[in-house]
Amino acid sequence: MSLQHTGGASKPGNQGEKYSAKNVMRWLKPGSVGLSVQRRGAGRHRRNVTQRQIIMKRHYEIQSLVGREILDSRGNPTVEVECELQGGTRATAAVPSGASTGSREAVELRDGNAKRYRGKGVLQAVTNVNEAIAPELAGIDARRQPAIDLTMIKLDGTPNKARLGANAILGVSLAVARAAAAASGLPLYQYLGGPGATRLPVPHMNILNGGVHAHWQGADFQEFMTAPYGAESFSQALEWGSEIYHALQALLEKKGLSVGVGDEGGFAPRVSSNEEPFELIIEAIHSAGLRPRHDVGIACDPASSEFYENGQYHLRSEERKLDSAAMSAYYAKLVDSYPLVLLEDGMAQDDWSGWKQLNHALGDRIELVGDDVFCTNPEIIACGIEENIANAVLIKLNQIGTLTETIAASRLARSHGWGAFVSHRSGETVDSFIADLTVALDTGHLKTGAPARGERVEKYNQLLRIEQHLGIAASYAGPAAYVRKPRRQLPVGRN
Ligand code: PGA
Repeated sequence: MSLQHTGGASKPGNQGEKYSAKNVMRWLKPGSVGLSVQRRGAGRHRRNVTQRQIIMKRHYEIQSLVGREILDSRGNPTVEVECELQGGTRATAAVPSGASTGSREAVELRDGNAKRYRGKGVLQAVTNVNEAIAPELAGIDARRQPAIDLTMIKLDGTPNKARLGANAILGVSLAVARAAAAASGLPLYQYLGGPGATRLPVPHMNILNGGVHAHWQGADFQEFMTAPYGAESFSQALEWGSEIYHALQALLEKKGLSVGVGDEGGFAPRVSSNEEPFELIIEAIHSAGLRPRHDVGIACDPASSEFYENGQYHLRSEERKLDSAAMSAYYAKLVDSYPLVLLEDGMAQDDWSGWKQLNHALGDRIELVGDDVFCTNPEIIACGIEENIANAVLIKLNQIGTLTETIAASRLARSHGWGAFVSHRSGETVDSFIADLTVALDTGHLKTGAPARGERVEKYNQLLRIEQHLGIAASYAGPAAYVRKPRRQLPVGRN
């Protein structure tokens, strides 16, 4: 590509001179064409300012998008996308993958070829990036994130991204955002969130695993998380979380329980009830020298869709089946007995009346987060708000498949006084996009596994970097991160 410049023969930016990152930087340097002309007359100045604007704009144009198949933390294939801009900036993003997935999640396109990765290959999604999406987005300014995401949604043409694959679309969406941030010279959290993005989230560390993530060998509830909201800073919260994790390890060893870990790095001991993990964690908090409830709370994700069968919740570890009302009463007892501050997916995705009961019983006492039931989908969240079934949403980028829709989901929830809780997936890579996203969206809390395993720790480490980068401007969300809602809310769109 060449630019149509009219400067003198010895100047950079001559007609025919190659458009490259090196040249762009040279042209933008003080003393080069754009700035030196000030001394040479107004007409020339105007012309060169325009040239500079053109160069600036082209700096951000998408030059190439390349997809590839890589492995996630479970050894399954996933999509990674590399984006290069005309100005030479390059950035990559990798897509995570869930195990306890909501039935209305956007489609994760898998090849289904049993001869490769047991059918889990993503070569078709990669081809879709390279052959369908890349040509369509070439030349678009990478800062036009909503236009880029909407272009892909239109190109896909299905309601759930089934044609191109949400894994292909999301890989592009995130790689483009990261490239635009880098080309702007801004850290990702600031590019996405602006100067107001200064609040670090409470890190919810999943230190004890059950359910499908632990192959049903212990608790029915999938995740038991520590919530160190009493810390003074994010870094102190992380320190506490790590100390509790190690105290729990020592405790399990002492009790002769397994310290093998589940998919998200939490221990997966063979406990005999869903209350035992609460007891173990409380003991670990004490032995780390901290105070349960005052310093550290507990959050729990039962992932109840996984054990909801024929209208009943089947607690295998306790050998009993509960209906929605009994399940709700069971949770109320847990809230009375333990410092439980956040409950995610307490009811199954198909049990909306159960959700309503639960919100009525506990919505003003703890944060009730919907994951499988909402799938980060603004349309479903809007129904949930209308029907007052919860008070917070889980935010998972790959459930909906674009950055723009994810931001819309979080905004919708927050604008109705609901919480937004950002989450990793059980299959992850070392991509730490969600760390920046959490600060940018100012959601105040996130969950991204145990303080162990590289793909989990990388998100926490990125938050440490952000905290350091913000310096004195950094604040910590603390107890204010949690939403408790009165039982009646304004209808959607009326406030
Ligand atoms: P999933 O669960 O990625 O297996 O759906 C993750 C979570 O909710 O932590």
